[in-house]
Amino acid sequence: MNVPKQQSAPSSAISRAIELKTQLDEHGYRYYVLDEPVIADAEYDKLFHELVALEQKYPELASAASPTHRVGGGTLAAFSEVTHRVPMLSLGNAFTADDAANFDRRCREGLAAGSGNADAEIDYACEPKFDGLAINLTYENGIFVQGATRGDGAVGEDVTLNLKTIRAIPLSLTAPQGKKIPKLLEVRGEVLMLKNDFAKLNDKQAGKGEKLFVNPRNAAAGSLRQLDSKLTAERPLHFFAYGLGRVEGADIPATHGEMMDWLQGLRFPVSGERRTVKGLAGLLGYYEQIGKRRSMLPFEIDGVVYKVNAFAAQEKLGFVSRAPRFAIAHKFPAEEATTVLLGIDVQVGRTGAITPVARLQPVFVGGTTVSNATLHNEDEIRRKDLKIGDTVIVRRAGDVIPEVASVIYAKRPVDAREFVMPTRCPQCQSHIEKLEGEAIARCTGGLFCPAQRKQALLHFAQRRAMDIEGLGDKLVEQIVNAELVRTPADLYRLGLTALANLERMAEKSARNLLDAIEKSKHTTLAKFLFGLGVRHVGESTAKDLAKHFGKLDAVMNASTDALLLVNDVGPVVAQSLTNFFAEPHNREVVEQLRSCGIVWPESAGVNAPNAALGAEFGRMSPVAGGAFSGKTVVLTGTMPTLSRDVAKDKLEAAGAKVAGSVSKKTDFVIAGSDAGSKLEKAIELGVTVLDEAQLLAMLAQS
Ligand code: IVH
Repeated sequence: MNVPKQQSAPSSAISRAIELKTQLDEHGYRYYVLDEPVIADAEYDKLFHELVALEQKYPELASAASPTHRVGGGTLAAFSEVTHRVPMLSLGNAFTADDAANFDRRCREGLAAGSGNADAEIDYACEPKFDGLAINLTYENGIFVQGATRGDGAVGEDVTLNLKTIRAIPLSLTAPQGKKIPKLLEVRGEVLMLKNDFAKLNDKQAGKGEKLFVNPRNAAAGSLRQLDSKLTAERPLHFFAYGLGRVEGADIPATHGEMMDWLQGLRFPVSGERRTVKGLAGLLGYYEQIGKRRSMLPFEIDGVVYKVNAFAAQEKLGFVSRAPRFAIAHKFPAEEATTVLLGIDVQVGRTGAITPVARLQPVFVGGTTVSNATLHNEDEIRRKDLKIGDTVIVRRAGDVIPEVASVIYAKRPVDAREFVMPTRCPQCQSHIEKLEGEAIARCTGGLFCPAQRKQALLHFAQRRAMDIEGLGDKLVEQIVNAELVRTPADLYRLGLTALANLERMAEKSARNLLDAIEKSKHTTLAKFLFGLGVRHVGESTAKDLAKHFGKLDAVMNASTDALLLVNDVGPVVAQSLTNFFAEPHNREVVEQLRSCGIVWPESAGVNAPNAALGAEFGRMSPVAGGAFSGKTVVLTGTMPTLSRDVAKDKLEAAGAKVAGSVSKKTDFVIAGSDAGSKLEKAIELGVTVLDEAQLLAMLAQS
């Protein structure tokens, strides 16, 4: 057979391969570590494929550090063992401020031994405690040669091929100007999955009908332990460095903080959340500050780590059994816990929305005891495949309401029951309906439904609406159950005796409530409108309506078209308002409230001149009904042709409200190049992202 002889690479191919590797490393670093890409994905892919083709033609060009290894290599039968040159220890834990104070005291005393002053404040390096997997990366003469898991601390597993697929881990090191690359460098840190990437991965799993991952940590662990590194390559893993193993052939800096800067200079990803602080107050301040930002961080953490900053001091303090004396993990209360789903009830909201609620065996999580968790809607129960009797993982992150994160299938009892959505409201027996395409089922009982009535009254009485002080949950429950009040207008007809006869209600508190009700009669049109609880009319829309129309009658009698001229009012809000005021019952309640003496200053409104101009000049006022009408839009990054101001003007002319920050209420984010955190947030919240070309196309159709 005539096998073609392998050609050796000409110098032009060698220099092109080096050039491509350098460029790909640079762009990979900008994208995955700095989060500041300067080229489009397609351009990166083009360079990548050029290098793949070159290496295929001249295999000797495929060095161990080639970025082409990022896509994964062969399948292993098993991971081989790696004995760590320096053991990978664990950290002691602190759970309270007292524990942290004891750690600080022990460090001060340990360092003072022999020299006297145990009062001197210590400099500490503080970092997030990443909730991932510890690994050790070995570089010989700047080339990544081996990566291993922590294992039992002495011996881990060789996961080199898998680690090569993690874009944030450098495959080769370039020394910053004037600095040397160590002959041997071991870098330690944590492999994890960013929250965003985890959510996307689970969406993908759900789309394929495959099992969901319980949390980012499990997803990262499962991904790193794949014997086929091509599978790892499909999982979006990230890495943060936080320490060193053995180092030979270079001087390392004198403090942990400087060492982290040094690693950053070598292009290892290090957390921007790291700080150096002084003394116990500094430690606790850091703990508190990170605790507040925890839910906003792009990765999961389970606490913070304090490390004595000076390496000489670390050495003096030494180790106790398998943990250093110079460092400690100050843990946050666990955000996840395992418990049993005892049952599923449904709750009826102000607008009749039926929300299934999980009744749980009480469990301590996120710092409190949780016995209920929202399940959002029926689809969510199916998506998570929850059955009554299941053992479930409950999450309570920060101030967010607790939720059931996932099921532990292995613990599903044989008699686990499917949840059946009731067809009638448990409070008023009215029909429950679920409109096509809507996730939420609703009770059709309206104010006939006591649950909706209670919620409507609470909404009406709240501080931002009619501000009836003292009319809270318990009292509303009582007055509705005693049938003293059906509609908000009934509040203004309450008598002292009837109130004073309620349980736990003395004459004095009854009188206080009546005074508060009386006081609420002097209000503003915006507060009154908000208090009516029209669906989709929040506080700010109510303010816009009041400002625009000036008078209640003008709002009540406005046509859908007239409503669409109001700032922030789109077709959904306009329809909701016209439906509300078309209902005779609602008009009657409004009339009754007026006749009870509720008053507010009225104005001529700002609509008249605008509306006239709009009619005359056609396009002087925002266009109603276009793709951007009533939508909230955020601009970020630099667009190829439009300036920020021009884009804003165009959007506003098309009826959009241009906001400064991205939230759940944002309808579109228009992203140019260098878009940063706003774009990230948009992706996280599932907000539609448009580029300039799409924006212009949609504007042309508006
Ligand atoms: S330093 C001597 N820094 O916590 C141990 N560890 O219990 C040095 N971890 O296995 C570890 N974030 O997986 C250190 N900023 C951080 C960390 C961190 C997470 C993990 C690591 C280790 C465990 C120790």
